[in-house]
Amino acid sequence: MCGIVGAVARRNVTPILVEGLRRLEYRGYDSTGLAVVGEDGRLCVTRAVGKVAKLAEKLAAAPCAGGVGIAHSRWATHGGVTEANAHPHTSEDRVAVIHNGIIENYETLRTELAGKGYRFRSETDTEVIAHLIHERLANEPDLTAAVRTAVKRLAGAYAIVVVDARSPDRLVAARIASPLVIGLGEGENFVASDVQALLPVTRRFQFLEEGEVAEVRLDGVTITDGAGREMARSVHESELSADAVERGEYRHYMLKEIHEQPRALADTLSERLLGDHVLEAAFGPRAAAVLAGVAQVHIVACGTSFHAGLVARYYLEQGARIPCTVEVASEFRYRDPVVPPGTLFVAISQSGETADTLAALREAGRLGYLATCAICNVPESSLVRGADLVLMTRAGPEVGVASTKAFTTQLVALALLGLAIAQRKGFDRRLVGLYSRQLRHVPELIGHVLRLEPQIRVWAQAFADKHHALFLGRGPAYPVALEGALKLKEISYIHAEAYPAGELKHGPLALVDADMPVVAVAPNNALLEKLKSNLQEVRARGGRLFVFADPNTGFVAGDGIEVMVMPEHIEALQAPLAYTVPLQLLAYHVAVLRGTDVDQPRNLAKSVTVE
Ligand code: M6R
Repeated sequence: MCGIVGAVARRNVTPILVEGLRRLEYRGYDSTGLAVVGEDGRLCVTRAVGKVAKLAEKLAAAPCAGGVGIAHSRWATHGGVTEANAHPHTSEDRVAVIHNGIIENYETLRTELAGKGYRFRSETDTEVIAHLIHERLANEPDLTAAVRTAVKRLAGAYAIVVVDARSPDRLVAARIASPLVIGLGEGENFVASDVQALLPVTRRFQFLEEGEVAEVRLDGVTITDGAGREMARSVHESELSADAVERGEYRHYMLKEIHEQPRALADTLSERLLGDHVLEAAFGPRAAAVLAGVAQVHIVACGTSFHAGLVARYYLEQGARIPCTVEVASEFRYRDPVVPPGTLFVAISQSGETADTLAALREAGRLGYLATCAICNVPESSLVRGADLVLMTRAGPEVGVASTKAFTTQLVALALLGLAIAQRKGFDRRLVGLYSRQLRHVPELIGHVLRLEPQIRVWAQAFADKHHALFLGRGPAYPVALEGALKLKEISYIHAEAYPAGELKHGPLALVDADMPVVAVAPNNALLEKLKSNLQEVRARGGRLFVFADPNTGFVAGDGIEVMVMPEHIEALQAPLAYTVPLQLLAYHVAVLRGTDVDQPRNLAKSVTVE
């Protein structure tokens, strides 16, 4: 989703801004733009539809150079994908603004500002911000104060960064509900929507909180609240390195990230599982007190992270006998739920910046939960900073829009949460020990599963020319099927749906014919025979089956049925992890055959920072 970079330095900031945008490409965007204040004291603005490379090309042909500037990658919300709608938006060739988020009252403000003579050149909600600030500057010459008063007029979500051609020594940033980080350099300072953009220039960061305004100068940064009171802020040293997001030998980030899973899973388990014991301290200093009081768990998330929650329900209920409900964040936040005493609220998010999940976390704070817990992959994220307990997945930066290693590391983190609650509640120690051992073998098991890739590449050919696909599973294999269908649809653009196999004859069976490949997830569990009967129903209607199965499940490849035999001895807790990986590979190879943009599929963004 939209990306922000800003810099103030004694050198030309344009290369820093362009590199920052390049490093934010993974978020998904459709146009870019940049504004710098040149040595002549004038704003130089360049915008381009398409990739950052296009902006760089334009800048090579007509350079913009200066010591203070802002740059943006836009993911269209208000107004089509055009150069005129790309940010920065300017007012009277003096003020330039970049913005992430949505201004809900922009129509009212637009009418008001047009009435005062301001001319609008775009269809965006952002342009009103530039004019509002310009209007304030007529009465309030200090840019920081002008921004502080102007944003009071805005309703909605925003992270903005502003330059004023008459204040070339500073950037001013402000935020509500959209993240902003400040990067601290030596005699130069920066701002961005996430730390990745700034890693080539600094690893020292401060985080801007809700409603705050930051004045970013050469000699330092001043953070104030909405009333102008100065706020103290600690400095966070990031552990990420600038090259943590390189693609290496792999053709796509997604493939690299699929293959990184054994390492990512081992890292997520490391130092959390000691012998047969989960280290509660891994969840933070309040963990022991909170876990002792957990009577049930309510999980909230979006997309792939929601699917991780659906698997976790089995870990918590079947494994640890803890009642668990799971819900998508965009529904939860407006539902006003009744919260039973002792309910732990768990938010799952790779990015920790998903707008609906963050809003759900805020809502949870109001609703009287026992405590909140974040399962997240980005240490610097708003979710991590806002939750009472935190368990970091250590997947490392995930760049491909399709979540892969984030999902499987979420599953082991959630299994650790289940075990931590179970052991705190005095659950049978032998069972806790058994599950711990199963977890510890997951990285090795996933290494074995990855060896199926050559066979999966062959299967992919049968999907590449199809328009639809159906994914079936039962029990914990159902959320795995959901995740497999999501992967296929988002990167290959094939319409894919997942059903609990028992639901087949209640509707979706009508879709089955020879042109509809049906993928089945068939671990060897108590539901296997039931699943087999459901698959017979597919075969009887001429459907072509692609079954991922345990070795001893008795599936035999034949007419209309392909069988991929999984490694031996997959235990119940391991099955959702093991069966997810071949579905990721299947989606990947189908997408490659179809020639889609695997890492940045159309219309999608990595970090969904608007509602
Ligand atoms: O960063 P989050 O985990 O909160 O993101 C949630 C979803 O946007 C994300 O999982 C999305 O569904 C992925 N593109 C799926 O691959």
